[in-house]
Amino acid sequence: MKITLAKTAGFCFGVDRAVNMVLSLAEQEKKVCTLGPIIHNKQMVEILESKGVREVASPSQSNGGETLVIRSHGVPKSVMEEAKKNCANVVDATCPFVAKIHSIVGADKTPILIAGDEKHEEVIGIRGHCLGYSAVFKNVEELKEILENNPNFNEKTFKVVSQTTFNEKIFKECKIFLKNNYTNAFVFDTICNATAKRQQEAEELSKVCDTMVVVGGRHSSNTTKLFDVCKVNCNRVFFVETAAELTADMFKNSCHVGVVAGASTPAGIIKEVIKTMSENNQNIEQLDEVAQKSFEEMTDEEAFEASLNELNGNQKVKGVVLAVSENEVQLDIGRGLAGYLTKDEYSADDSVDLVKDVKVGDVLDLIIMRTNDQEGIVMLSKRRFDAIAGWDKIVTAKEENTILEGTVKDVIKGGVVVYCEGVRVFIPASHATLYKNDSFEDLKGQTVRFRIIEIGRGRKAVGSIRSVLREEKKAASAALWENIAVGDKFTGTVKSLTAYGAFVDIGGVDGMVHVSELSWQRIKNPSEVVLVGDTVEVYVKAIDTEKKKISLGYKKAEENPWVIFQNNYAVDDVIKVTIVSMTTYGAFARIIPGIDGLIHISQIANKHIAKPQDELTVGQEVEAKITAVDLEKKRVSLSIRALLPEEETVEEPAQETTEEAPAEETAE
Ligand code: F3S
Repeated sequence: MKITLAKTAGFCFGVDRAVNMVLSLAEQEKKVCTLGPIIHNKQMVEILESKGVREVASPSQSNGGETLVIRSHGVPKSVMEEAKKNCANVVDATCPFVAKIHSIVGADKTPILIAGDEKHEEVIGIRGHCLGYSAVFKNVEELKEILENNPNFNEKTFKVVSQTTFNEKIFKECKIFLKNNYTNAFVFDTICNATAKRQQEAEELSKVCDTMVVVGGRHSSNTTKLFDVCKVNCNRVFFVETAAELTADMFKNSCHVGVVAGASTPAGIIKEVIKTMSENNQNIEQLDEVAQKSFEEMTDEEAFEASLNELNGNQKVKGVVLAVSENEVQLDIGRGLAGYLTKDEYSADDSVDLVKDVKVGDVLDLIIMRTNDQEGIVMLSKRRFDAIAGWDKIVTAKEENTILEGTVKDVIKGGVVVYCEGVRVFIPASHATLYKNDSFEDLKGQTVRFRIIEIGRGRKAVGSIRSVLREEKKAASAALWENIAVGDKFTGTVKSLTAYGAFVDIGGVDGMVHVSELSWQRIKNPSEVVLVGDTVEVYVKAIDTEKKKISLGYKKAEENPWVIFQNNYAVDDVIKVTIVSMTTYGAFARIIPGIDGLIHISQIANKHIAKPQDELTVGQEVEAKITAVDLEKKRVSLSIRALLPEEETVEEPAQETTEEAPAEETAE
């Protein structure tokens, strides 16, 4: 069995544009409602509903904070005005082809005759833009009737337009009648090719296929028309909304199945239908015209390659900006074709604000990505144009070893992605930072300087930030050695720790803070005070220019515990202390961190005790009197006994200064 999918199956430009506008708003987590269903397809409407998009029947039903989207059919001028008055934000997704009809009928008060269905929303919208008389006709007979009822149209100028989905054949008949009878009629053929092409293809396919499958919403008038067209030529025509409705029986004895889909049928549903048909029929001979990979589906590299492959003189164009909205720019590219530039194709930077960046009248350099012959739409890309122009600069930068600047767009497995001159440059992890183990996660969004180190096949550029950082470090180091002096203060970054100290980068050069210089208190490891990556204030203690070594100081004089003690305590002060250790000759008590005083065994109680433990325990808080301070030897003597009542004191000679206190007594 052979399956042929119609080339034009699926979304037309206008529907695709409107759906994307709604999806984009929903993705920005805005509250969105649409005036009527954005599309006549149940499945798509359900997807939008799941994203919080709701439908309202009139602008007054939208609540204040919502963004109201006008669908591709357009609305009367009065409805648009009401929407702008009632809603905080209105996004107009009226198809540009419909908008063009609005501008024709709304230009002046000339009477307007519209070929179409007077109940169709598009026709209602068009009439709502007419400034004077308007009437609707479905065929030549109805047109004649209108003209007969308006004898003044014999001399008066009048305009004739058509609904975008009007039948081409009937409109042609009307045009011939008008040409022969009313030279004062201005006829505008505003039928959209999207509908005509779909019907034409349905007709051609249904003539050669024994089975036809029409995919789309049952409420979609253009899909229903496709079904009617197929029915004329083919006996077995099935109308399905989704793949779930397909059965193997439908294709029993079929040799050639044609598949057509309405302009409001999402591509995902069409693909699912084709897939299911293929699974149900093992003897597929050929599958024609299955949607090829579009630019949107390609990776950046694939699209870039594709655009370069296709590029020739006339694919580069200049476009004059006609209109700018949040998500797209409409341009005149001078060929009588409508040119569209989406936000994604404007710049790789998704934070760009089109409305601020682009102004009506601006001239942009672009490349043509896709031309839709059916609908006469040209999809443009500035991003890809910039990438092509930027590529030459990247190649030159590699040849001349120059430094480039770009913004880190992504942190990916194995490195970071930088955009520069519109070109994607990959920077491997080993080239993303100065030091091997430095984290590069926080580079996202930052502007970085780098060199191009490799240009690979498929226009792939590889860069190195490290190359620039190393060079900058070398230059900074040379400048630092020129000027450094003892006493200089620096704000540095702790680069590494060893048992004997911390290495600190003071701007291109690493100096060392010895462990004894880190704290006034005894520490076992530098990590008790600083950690790798910490920003620290240091000062230069010594410089060895020959060995290229710098000794740094970290602890501050004002934090010296002896300075603090001197400023706050004096002999005879009664203070609260904590017992921290005990020896045979007494107990050591913490006065402040870094200073422990000795309470000699004779000063612990007012009676004789055999050992300090008889009266004290480690961790106990007691009151004691400062009885002596020797700043030179860094010793403090304390006494509990001095605070006890006189009458209970036993005879015992004072010994607080006779015994040598061990090293632990001092802070240093
Ligand atoms: Fe627009 Fe034509 Fe589709 S008028 S909405 S592109 S059918």
